[in-house]
Amino acid sequence: MSACRFALAAGLLLTSGCATQTKPVAHPAPNLGQAMTEAELAFWDTSILVDGSNLPAGSGSSAQGLIVYKQKCAACHGATGAETDTRLTPLIGGMGSLATAQPVRTLGSYWPHATIVFDYIRRAMPYNAPKSLSNDEAYALTAYLLRANGIIDEALIVDRTTLPAVKMPNQNGFVMAPEHAK
Ligand code: HEC
Repeated sequence: MSACRFALAAGLLLTSGCATQTKPVAHPAPNLGQAMTEAELAFWDTSILVDGSNLPAGSGSSAQGLIVYKQKCAACHGATGAETDTRLTPLIGGMGSLATAQPVRTLGSYWPHATIVFDYIRRAMPYNAPKSLSNDEAYALTAYLLRANGIIDEALIVDRTTLPAVKMPNQNGFVMAPEHAK
C-alpha cells in the first residue's frame, strides 16, 4: 500500500498529494477499444439456431466421427463416450431413464434438439481447444454420438439438411417457462 493510500485508509489527509486525489476528477470517455472486424464477429457469432437454418456447409458420417472422437475426445470422455467412470456426464446412454429415480441425462436421452449437439460441440469442445474443430469434424462427431445413442442410422450423412430432420427422443420432454408459453 502506498503511503498516500495508507494515509487515506487511516482517515488522514497528511500530504497535499492525497488531498488533491480525493477531489472529483473529470474523466475522459472510457476508451472501449475498437469496433470488431467482420472476421472477428464471424469467429464469435457461431451459435446455431435450434431449427438449424444457419447450419454451415460440410458433412460427416458416424464412422468418420469415431476416428475424430478417438483423437480429440476420448482422453476426457472415455474410449467410446458411454463410459461412466470419467467424472463427466456420459455422452451415450440413459435412454428411458429420465422418469426413473436415477435419471441419466446424456445428449442422447435428454437434449431436445439434434442441432444443439452440433452447436455445442463446435463451439465448446474439445474443452482444452474450443472452436478448433472444422465443420466436417463437428458434423462427423455429431453423427457418431447420435449413432452411438441409437438415434440415427449408421449410413446417415449428417449435414445442414439431414441434421434438423433428426428427432430426438426427449424432444417433447421440456415445458416452456410460463412467461414464454403464451
Ligand atoms: C480436456 C477434456 C475434454 C476434451 C478433450 C473434450 N471434452 Fe467434452 N467435456 C469436457 C468437460 C469438462 C465437459 C463439461 C463442460 C461443462 O459442463 O461446462 C464436457 C462436456 C461435453 C458435452 C456435454 C455433455 C452433457 O451432456 O452435458 C459434450 C457433448 C462433449 N463434451 C463433447 C465432446 C467432444 C465431441 C469432444 C471431442 C471433440 C470433447 N467433448 C472433448 C471435457 C472435455
